[in-house]
Amino acid sequence: MTHLTLPASTNVTWQESLVTRQQRELRNGHRGAILWFTGLSGSGKSTLAHAVEAQLHQQGCRTFVLDGDNVRHGLCGDLGFSDKDRQENIRRIGEMAKLFMEAGVIVLTAFISPYRDDRNRVRAMVAQGDFIEIYCDTSLDICETRDVKGLYKKARAGEIRDFTGISSPYEPPSHPDMAINTGIKSLDASVQQIVSEMKSRAVF
Ligand code: ADX
Repeated sequence: MTHLTLPASTNVTWQESLVTRQQRELRNGHRGAILWFTGLSGSGKSTLAHAVEAQLHQQGCRTFVLDGDNVRHGLCGDLGFSDKDRQENIRRIGEMAKLFMEAGVIVLTAFISPYRDDRNRVRAMVAQGDFIEIYCDTSLDICETRDVKGLYKKARAGEIRDFTGISSPYEPPSHPDMAINTGIKSLDASVQQIVSEMKSRAVF
């Protein structure tokens, strides 16, 4: 795919910023980082990302959540759920998350991001340690029982095509930085686990 190799625009030059990422991080008192939540629809990605953000914000960190359903209303409103569109969705989110991180922000992304290659491509865009992959390892059974948005029911009835976990694949991370089963672990305990992992990685 062309967008994954060279940009379509020509005669463009990279402009260096006078303020470095390091200077921004120094001012913020913490590192920029990408917390990449991945998992089935209903696996707890959004809930967890927002709860972690609330805790970090309270501790004085600069944070932002990029959320699947929200981003698909705007930046990625032109994309559907084919493999190709999901790939482009994750590419755009990856680029955006990287910008936030370079601005010194802890950015939390909550997208199904079902394909290993797409996630690994984002990981490869940033330095080691900048991308923390958190697998919401919640079984399809539990996600389907929750069915918060009623989408599993529709997918089972054949009213939604290419639905992740039902008629479209989900590839779990082979080596996630963290795995959390929100069907077993409480929200509070999950948040604490993530926050202490970030501390041990010296994000803040
Ligand atoms: S991704 O696969 O490209 O990463 P993303 O996280 O942006 O997906 O969007 C997933 C959300 O879109 C789901 O939580 C659900 O609310 C909605 N959705 C609508 N159609 C589908 C579908 N076919 N498969 C998965 N999610 C869908």
